[in-house]
Amino acid sequence: MTVSNAPAIITARFGDEAAYTLDRYEATGGYEGLRTALAKTPAQVVEEVKTASLLGRGGAGFPAGVKWGFCPPGVFPRYLVVNGDESEPGTYKDRLLMERDPHQLIEGVLIACYAVGCSQAFLYVRGEMALAQERIAQALNDAYAKGYVGKNILGSDFSVDIVLHWGAGAYIVGEETALIESLEGNRGLPRLKPPFFPAAKGLYLQPTIVNNVETLANLPWIITHGGAAFAALGAENSKGMRMFAVSGHVKKPGVYEVEFGVTTFRDLLYAPVYGGGIRGDHQLKAFIPGGASAPWFYEEHLDLPLEAGAVSKAGSMLGSGAVVVMDETTDMVRACLRLVRFFARESCGKCTPCREGTGWLEKILERILHGEGRPEDVNLLLDVCDNISVGMAWPPRQTTICPLGQSATTPVASAIMRFKDEFEAYVGGPAEITVKVLGPAFVGPRREEASADA
Ligand SMILES: Cc1cc2nc3c(=O)[nH]c(=O)nc-3n(C[C@H](O)[C@H](O)[C@H](O)COP(=O)(O)O)c2cc1C
Ligand code: SF4
Repeated sequence: MTVSNAPAIITARFGDEAAYTLDRYEATGGYEGLRTALAKTPAQVVEEVKTASLLGRGGAGFPAGVKWGFCPPGVFPRYLVVNGDESEPGTYKDRLLMERDPHQLIEGVLIACYAVGCSQAFLYVRGEMALAQERIAQALNDAYAKGYVGKNILGSDFSVDIVLHWGAGAYIVGEETALIESLEGNRGLPRLKPPFFPAAKGLYLQPTIVNNVETLANLPWIITHGGAAFAALGAENSKGMRMFAVSGHVKKPGVYEVEFGVTTFRDLLYAPVYGGGIRGDHQLKAFIPGGASAPWFYEEHLDLPLEAGAVSKAGSMLGSGAVVVMDETTDMVRACLRLVRFFARESCGKCTPCREGTGWLEKILERILHGEGRPEDVNLLLDVCDNISVGMAWPPRQTTICPLGQSATTPVASAIMRFKDEFEAYVGGPAEITVKVLGPAFVGPRREEASADA
């Protein structure tokens, strides 16, 4: 089992109970990254982040430095928006960062504002995260009082105001354009892209950079140690360290910061310093590698490295960094319904395939689970999925304004293609599948074939 001995970057202070206070943050190197950044030009800071190849940690994995460069030149004001909405089932890494080390995030926000040329930032924090909001509010007040935030920061001509905004608890508001709508005081409905790519037309139709909490929390370390030191960690296409929230049927659920590409899923689930193995020493049945939207993985995927390229090639994604583990006692039809119900309830209703399709999937699964399903319902589920995400391919094809619709189809395709026998047991007969399903993680060996191979 490989456990990287690379030093923790963003969770380095997690062992310190008082790390959320300004005193402890300063005593452990806090705001040194900001001082270093202010001694450089904004362009040099952008270059450092590009050298680091820091990929966004909110789901899509877009390089942060490149995204910053998309703001149209000479157009001001421009805004930085921090996405702290974190609502995908199983995902809770950003909440811990905000609760345990809020100054690290604030310092990252300041560095990004300096690099991009923003004098106003908005911190959008999910409504239910009471402790995170309290700690960030206190940290912001302390940082203002000490001159890290506000006018002429640390005696420079750089000034930034940071506004803390509490969300009302909607998953869809994590989608960046819905978040912008919500910040503007509107219902959180995603905008059509184009033309509303936030870097071009975002908050109040001005250039806006939306970045995830974890993405920004990496900046103080990158600026203090240099982009090259960050890029020396991790894999070819996934540099640095990344937080993974491991939940479900492991002995030690928790958030672990691991080196990209060096650590495998097997390490993350079974190493004593991480997940510690499957609860009750049961067998693994399946795991979701990157949040509820990701196609499921199985035993044969355990030795894949935690690296975006390898995971994508195998037909899934690291997404929001949530690894959800299901052991052999899991009812896969019920697990599938649980996930689909989440997406159906969180659909904003703006586009038909998602609004109608997710609700339809939920109803069919409900009737199957209650013993009222018919064998043809299994194929019908896939048919509905195929109308939301045509061809059930990977990467998924989108018929909707945002990717939430297609996200509801992945648990259905995963569960049916791998555990068709469990659906058949509920519907009381063999189910014929005529819908074409293409994603490589969906079309791997069925369970009985997999165990025959083993
Ligand atoms: C339905 C949906 C929910 C999302 N939720 C989040 C979220 O909670 N936090 C987040 O950072 N990104 C979320 N995203 C991705 C954001 O739209 C955006 O890509 C991200 O905040 C950009 O930050 P990054 O480049 O630093 O990763 C979500 C996307 C979708 C489609
Ligand atoms: S895909 Fe669903 S959540 Fe996204 S905009 Fe359309 S209806 Fe709303």
